Amino acid sequence: MCGIVGYIGNKNATPVLVNALKKLEYRGYDSAGIAVFNGQDILVRKVKGALKALEEKIAKETIEGSLGIGHTRWATHGEPSDINAHPHLNESGTIAVVHNGIIENFAKLKAWLQSEGVVFKSDTDTEVIAHLINYYYEYSLDIFEAVKATVNRLEGSYALGVLCKDFPDRIIAARKECPLIVGLGKDENFIASDVPAVLEYTRDVYFLDQKEIAVLYKDHVDLFDEDGNRIIKQPFHVDWDISSAEKGGYEHFMLKEIHEQPKVLTDTMRPRLVFEGGAPVDIKFDELCFDEKWKEAKRIVIVACGTAYHAGVVAKYVFEQLARVPVVVDVASEFRYRNPILCKDDIFIVISQSGETADTLAALRLAKQNGVHVTAITNCVGSTVSREADDVVYTWAGPEIAVASTKAYTTQLMCLCMLALKAAFIKETISASDYKKYLCELNSIPEKVQQILEDKASIQRFVSKNYNKQKVFFIGRQYDSATSLECALKLKEVSYMHSEAFAAGELKHGPIALIDTDTLVVATATVPELYEKLASNIIEVKSRGASTFVITQDDSGAFSSSADEIVKIPSTESFFEPMLSIIPAQLFAYYCAVHRGNNPDKPRNLAKSVTVE
Ligand code: F6R
Repeated sequence: MCGIVGYIGNKNATPVLVNALKKLEYRGYDSAGIAVFNGQDILVRKVKGALKALEEKIAKETIEGSLGIGHTRWATHGEPSDINAHPHLNESGTIAVVHNGIIENFAKLKAWLQSEGVVFKSDTDTEVIAHLINYYYEYSLDIFEAVKATVNRLEGSYALGVLCKDFPDRIIAARKECPLIVGLGKDENFIASDVPAVLEYTRDVYFLDQKEIAVLYKDHVDLFDEDGNRIIKQPFHVDWDISSAEKGGYEHFMLKEIHEQPKVLTDTMRPRLVFEGGAPVDIKFDELCFDEKWKEAKRIVIVACGTAYHAGVVAKYVFEQLARVPVVVDVASEFRYRNPILCKDDIFIVISQSGETADTLAALRLAKQNGVHVTAITNCVGSTVSREADDVVYTWAGPEIAVASTKAYTTQLMCLCMLALKAAFIKETISASDYKKYLCELNSIPEKVQQILEDKASIQRFVSKNYNKQKVFFIGRQYDSATSLECALKLKEVSYMHSEAFAAGELKHGPIALIDTDTLVVATATVPELYEKLASNIIEVKSRGASTFVITQDDSGAFSSSADEIVKIPSTESFFEPMLSIIPAQLFAYYCAVHRGNNPDKPRNLAKSVTVE
């Protein structure tokens, strides 16, 4: 997720910046760097790897100065490397930039700057910003105006810290979508992505709002709106302790990551949508070639583990409905040992948040040994999966700290839905007008996730009555049967309650024998054609003593007589509903864990990355 820090004052900036970056380590990173003005020049030290490696470099090549910016990078554009690490400079090394976020129009801006003769050193989107500021600075000779003009040309998300050699008395900071705070000290001021970075120095901060720009001097800070009008804000006095501050005010990382989903779904989706007249009209995967192979695809094979496997199960329904291609989904630990049938013209997809899961890697290697082209969906740039796959589609979810996967799952679904839509369009299994209609709807998904997160009362109420149940069964039909798998996994992981998922139609074939008064049945109901059948299943379990909870977008009262509690979610196309219906289930699992006294961030017996069999 990248961490930004900046310092201006009387102290040596170098140790302050490194110390502040350490407080942002929880955000996850793969490289780090600082830029300090030493009274003559801006000097940069940056390395791939941990902050320790940066400290070792600084120990050998010291820099001192009372003005500087620093960064921990979580790779999005370009692999983790010394060159791609921030800060980035303009060609003459007089302007330094640190950036958090994703610049969606960076390819266009880069091509234009290159046509103006600019030579790029890195693969990052951030370097575009340094050159663009330089471009405007050459006209205005005013660094504030140059940053203001630059941010007006950026599409996507950013938090920025900027130094300019010609203005050694100030740091310019700006933000849109990504967080940025200004720490207010005595004869010293700071910028940071998050409060913990500055808590050792000050507890008075400004939280910058969308598109605001701050100019920090040693003894004061000026704030501006996007048009350059001066604004006045009240500083906020922080009275939280450091560990709660790292969680952005949330009690646990799991809850924070659940709430990040509207933002990360946007980050994963928006750069891949092509807009015309304000509406999305196409999907572009710059990283993939939608050639004859996708057009003629006879079969898609998806292999993954755990939550990522569940994203694959949802994708089976989505691909088959939209693109009319048969999909085989397998857990990697089974796939690798069952002598699978592989064909060279298969579309073969592995999904892995960490990109390091041993079984998924083995499946990837097996496919490659059989001459099959492998596409990976992963969250971690530079991971083994990303290096060994032939193509990589990144979920730009940022680091997931909680062991139980939440935002990685929904962003995996987002990538898979986009692949399915694009495949359906080129295979002509959906019409051009439906394609555009679905893209508009897809674009509204992050907002709909936000709506669900804003109303948690009914979930909390239901949890308080049911967190001690012996058994919890999740049921659904079609897409909802796939979603139920992930609902049950989430609950068992963090609450340790016995939970299982069943296709609702399977109840009568055995599982209904387990239903008694100590059972909770959670039904997901997002397919209107199947409401009636599902309602009958719910009545069957209710009449045997189970408590019932229904997650649905229904307005017609289809579940009013069968459900003890209904959580309403917004309606959307059925193939997008799994991105919405999982949200109440994630919250349900989280609150059950908390009620039972568990730490949802670190469930017993589980590791975040399963690098051994
Ligand atoms: C569940 C969870 C695990 C992972 C699984 C695969 O919340 O996190 O089930 O999904 O271990 O991990 P990745 O996606 O890193 O390959």
